[in-house]
Amino acid sequence: GRSYKYISVDVDGFVALVELRRHQAHNALNLELMEELVAELERLDVDDDVRCTVLTGSTRAFAAGADISEMVDATAVEMKLRNQFRCWDRIRWLRKPLIAAVNGYALGGGCELAMACDIIVAGENAKFGQPEVNLGIMPGAGGTQRLVRAVGKARALEILLTGEPITAEEALQFGLINRVVPSELCVQEALRIAQVISSKAPLAVQLIKESVGKAYDSTLQDGMEYERNCFYLLCGSQDKTEGMRAFMEKRQPFFQGR
Ligand code: CAA
Repeated sequence: GRSYKYISVDVDGFVALVELRRHQAHNALNLELMEELVAELERLDVDDDVRCTVLTGSTRAFAAGADISEMVDATAVEMKLRNQFRCWDRIRWLRKPLIAAVNGYALGGGCELAMACDIIVAGENAKFGQPEVNLGIMPGAGGTQRLVRAVGKARALEILLTGEPITAEEALQFGLINRVVPSELCVQEALRIAQVISSKAPLAVQLIKESVGKAYDSTLQDGMEYERNCFYLLCGSQDKTEGMRAFMEKRQPFFQGR
């Protein structure tokens, strides 16, 4: 197999298991990790020997979001030029099913990454949330758009505006995820579903995924673009600077609404 800095890949039968391995930072999604991840997902997508992929993190964190240390000092223009979400867009074009096996934190970009997958299996200890508002920003990788479609407006707004995470059980009730299992069985259960899917006709599987995507996608595009521009605009705000600095300095932020 290939060697990566931030991920590991294991193929068994038709099923690939991709693991995020930046455990000391709760799998914070820095640019290099995202590049590695998406490059590998694209490679698996054109590998005829792979029919379904499971994506997982550690027992404590699926992913704690975009890497705040990469954004804390970046200006709005730098963020725009960096094109941070370019690799995220490529996940949407993957043809084969992607299953998230989530233990621990799936926050911010981590929650968005799980939602970019087709099926989500969670361990009992999983926590899903969009805490961007605590940093003076907002989601930029689909958080406002996919969450509304998954759980409805009222629940999405509560999650997005309070920044408070929800439990795996709540996420199940809300329809955000597919099932909750004991944490130690989470990856195993995701692999089981992947094995079932990979036993089906690959072209049928691909076209089912494509068709569901069309239904789901019809008005998503405009929302994503609008969200993104708002995200970049907020990167020009003082509260973003304050929120991210406060996080880095491990203190409470002082927001002034500008
Ligand atoms: N970015 C950068 N570093 C992060 C990180 C992140 N998103 N999340 C955690 N880390 C780092 C911490 O800074 C810490 O590093 P050091 O050991 O060097 O101090 C290490 O990971 C362990 O984290 P904690 O000490 O904070 O661990 P904890 O168990 O006390 O708390 C946590 C865990 C609740 C997940 C907490 O780390 C946290 O709140 N993380 C930030 C979550 C967040 O705000 N995510 C949204 C990011 S913005 C985003 O994602 C926008 C977008 O869509 C583009």
